Amino acid sequence: MELHADFNAPIHLDTRSMPWVASPQPGVERRMLDRVGDEVARATSLVRYAPDSRFAEHEHGQGEEILVLSGVFADEHGEYPAGTYLRNPPGTRHAPRSGPGCELFVKLRQFQPGDDRRVCIDTRAASFVSGMVPGLRVLTLHEFKGEHVALVRWAPGTRFQAHAHWGGEEILVLEGVFSDEHGDYPAGSWLRSPHLSRHQPFSEPGCLIYVKVGHLHPEEARCAG
Ligand SMILES: [Fe+2]
Ligand SMILES: [Fe+2]
Repeated sequence: MELHADFNAPIHLDTRSMPWVASPQPGVERRMLDRVGDEVARATSLVRYAPDSRFAEHEHGQGEEILVLSGVFADEHGEYPAGTYLRNPPGTRHAPRSGPGCELFVKLRQFQPGDDRRVCIDTRAASFVSGMVPGLRVLTLHEFKGEHVALVRWAPGTRFQAHAHWGGEEILVLEGVFSDEHGDYPAGSWLRSPHLSRHQPFSEPGCLIYVKVGHLHPEEARCAG
């Protein structure tokens, strides 16, 4: 399967209007955002666990990145309530489950070689720091070789300068409304902007966004950089 697999093309999805699609595991459904491959895939998805559901034990070839959006996700290593950010590096394995049910943002098989740090951050208890313009608060979640992952909170009326995305930019709007000159993106919006794309973002009502930059290099740019 190839879904939104041209990483040089901009894409914007209103995920909340997308249907949930059954996975091979009973009680686990997903909304596929991008995908290269079938059940073993380089994939970005929203995943929903029904109460008292579980997923088969698996190993993380090329890593697994998760942001828990609601409910409580769990495995044999711990319980991860809404707001938890997890990175399970290549070679780790687990058998995930959920007692009360949960919704996750999941990126599979997208770790760069050598990125082998396990990460578990309770973002709701962590401290955000001041960002590049007044009104921005930033919580860095992970950095590795030009790739940067953060949660960014925008106070109402915050405006950012026009900028280009070296290595692209991916955003999931978690709360509020994020905007740029191309449109308005309410909570649930997922945007993927290619290498060297440009925009000038702002938020009128305020918002909270997950942002990853630097991971969408065309291969030649990544090698050169
Ligand atoms: Fe996993
Ligand atoms: Fe941007």
